[in-house]
Amino acid sequence: MEQLPLISPEMEISRPALPVHRRPHGKLEGLKALVTGASRGIGREIAIEMAAEGADIAINYTRADDEADLVGIAIEGMGKNTWTYPADISDYSQVQAMKASLDKYLGPIDILVNNAGINLDRVFMKMQPEDWNRVLSVNLIGVFNCTKVFLDDLVKSRQGRIINITSIVGQMGNIGQVNYATSKAGIIGMTKALAKELASKRVTVNAVAPGFIETSMLAGVPENIRARILEQIPMKRFGNPEEVAKAVSFLASEDASYITGHVLNVNGGQYL
Ligand SMILES: NC(=O)c1ccc[n+]([C@@H]2O[C@H](COP(=O)([O-])OP(=O)(O)OC[C@H]3O[C@@H](n4cnc5c(N)ncnc54)[C@H](OP(=O)(O)O)[C@@H]3O)[C@@H](O)[C@H]2O)c1
Repeated sequence: MEQLPLISPEMEISRPALPVHRRPHGKLEGLKALVTGASRGIGREIAIEMAAEGADIAINYTRADDEADLVGIAIEGMGKNTWTYPADISDYSQVQAMKASLDKYLGPIDILVNNAGINLDRVFMKMQPEDWNRVLSVNLIGVFNCTKVFLDDLVKSRQGRIINITSIVGQMGNIGQVNYATSKAGIIGMTKALAKELASKRVTVNAVAPGFIETSMLAGVPENIRARILEQIPMKRFGNPEEVAKAVSFLASEDASYITGHVLNVNGGQYL
């Protein structure tokens, strides 16, 4: 049998120079993804990570035009197509209008990342009906609206994927977040039920459950509470948005073709 040469550390291996922002064999090459809430935070990193893996990206957001444009510019710089659209996902008609525009400018999607979410925290004794309704409307009804409106695209895709961003708070609860925890627990139930319904249509439905991640959402938490949360995290640090984005990108890829109805924790061991 022919002996293959061993590569010793001394041998110089010549590699072609690669642009840092593109990977040689992107896992999502040829696919199109819509990421809701992609103007900043976790959504922005998901959009950039999936573009780096080869996908064209539709960026949804509500108000932050400038930030959304910057994400679009970064993605165009990677040589991928992109499209930004402001729409409040809690409003079904706005999501329908977004779909009509997306069809025109980017075409049908293969991957839907339901990331957009808000929190309006108060202890339950002080929580107002508006706090409850708004958080449920964006975080849960928004996921219903986007999934419903884009489902036909996903069923027609060769690699239909739905990835819902839930939260550790939906798994273990948190003081002051009864509305938020309810919405995120609802997403987990929806993910599992929908995974069963769509399995025969070759659409996988999974959720990613981040722990406490360094974004503007966490920046609003007072320092003493941040310190208390850190004590509960075995890795003794908060996560970063890139770590969540990698998990999403994996679930969107062909590598995750037999995974559905799963909740993938990205939480530094805080909830197991
Ligand atoms: N950060 C954490 O520690 C953490 C932990 C667990 C789970 N999560 C979840 O991860 C997701 C992203 O969180 P994040 O921390 O990145 O939040 P963020 O920095 O506050 O960003 C939220 C994004 O959602 C968009 N958005 C808000 N309301 C919307 C609506 N009605 N329609 C469409 N887009 C809307 C925002 O757009 P505009 O700026 O234009 O309004 C923004 O792009 C959320 O679902 C959140 O619950 C976060």
